[in-house]
Amino acid sequence: MGYKPLKIGNVTAKLPIIQGGMGIGISLSNLAGAVAREGGVGIISAAQIGFREPDFDQNPLKSNLRAMEMEYQKARQMAPEGVIGFNIMVAMKHYEEYVKCAARMGADLIISGAGLPTMLPELVKGYSIKIAPIVSTKKSAQVILKYWDKKYQRCPDLVVIEGPKAGGHLGFHKEELEDYLEASYDQEVLDIISVVAEYAEKYQTKIPVVLAGGIDSSDEVKHAFALGVDGVQVASRFVTTVECDASPIYKEAYLNASKEDIIIVKSPVGMPGRAIRNKFIEQLESDEKTPIQLCHQCLRSCNPLEIPYCITDALINAAKGDVDHALLFCGANAYKQNKMETVKEVIESLMI
Ligand SMILES: Cc1cc2nc3c(=O)[nH]c(=O)nc-3n(C[C@H](O)[C@H](O)[C@H](O)COP(=O)(O)O)c2cc1C
Repeated sequence: MGYKPLKIGNVTAKLPIIQGGMGIGISLSNLAGAVAREGGVGIISAAQIGFREPDFDQNPLKSNLRAMEMEYQKARQMAPEGVIGFNIMVAMKHYEEYVKCAARMGADLIISGAGLPTMLPELVKGYSIKIAPIVSTKKSAQVILKYWDKKYQRCPDLVVIEGPKAGGHLGFHKEELEDYLEASYDQEVLDIISVVAEYAEKYQTKIPVVLAGGIDSSDEVKHAFALGVDGVQVASRFVTTVECDASPIYKEAYLNASKEDIIIVKSPVGMPGRAIRNKFIEQLESDEKTPIQLCHQCLRSCNPLEIPYCITDALINAAKGDVDHALLFCGANAYKQNKMETVKEVIESLMI
């Protein structure tokens, strides 16, 4: 492993690999703690993290905040010296409360996407927690860095570039996605690195850039570093690990998926996402609606009366292993995963 450590300000991970946040309930303390223990950056997903709490249906905010604390403490016990952060999506209701909770607990890092985290600097003011926006295009990098510079006179501590092969919700329109999958995304990565470099120069600092999306082999890692990034963010490869917090049945769906099974779906709130075709998706394609029994207060832009299904329910079903009633998010290369591994094995296979 000839890679340099990942330095995010005064926080250093021995290995320049971040385990991407995966909600709901896929990257919790067990996965994040194991990655941090191995020297990478472990990321707990804050998305509806309290789904196993007894009062989740009545009070999602309270149970989510409680679960954030429990999961963080467990991960910290597993890796007392490791780097552990949270993925908190801008699109979440009560985003502010989740960010403040992570900062108050002393987590190392917040990575924030699914929208541009315009308010993030002011929410963590006075805390030492590091902050990282997720961007997918040069344009989105320019917008968020310029905004933080003008409004808060600061720059990010880290920038995560999430490319078109990523899993979960994607920061591209469906047509853009198809274009990028045809052509290479490399030029966009180079352009984003240049934008970040301008601000690093202005603030006389180093802003590491990390690339995510479809990175599933040591060759992909080498390619990313050759483009000039400082680290990689990997998610799907960690799903089929013993330590991953998801149900074994969900992991099996990854192992059984073929290339053709991995498709782009429209999430209820209009964003495209990548997932494994299953019974649930087939029902959606036949325009069957799943009536919403109860709103779990997840995404700001959601109107429960207008959507075909509840994304919280579909993702909780995934984490619990009820795969026929679930949205099985995955990255574009997840079909290549055909065996269960440990976190250590995954990291070793990528970072050789
Ligand atoms: C199951 C799953 C759930 C995800 N959930 C989130 C999430 O809650 N928030 C987020 O910002 N990204 C999410 N992502 C994106 C990952 O953090 C990561 O950036 C991306 O999937 C990297 O590509 P890869 O899966 O090909 O390695 C998710 C990805 C997967 C596969």
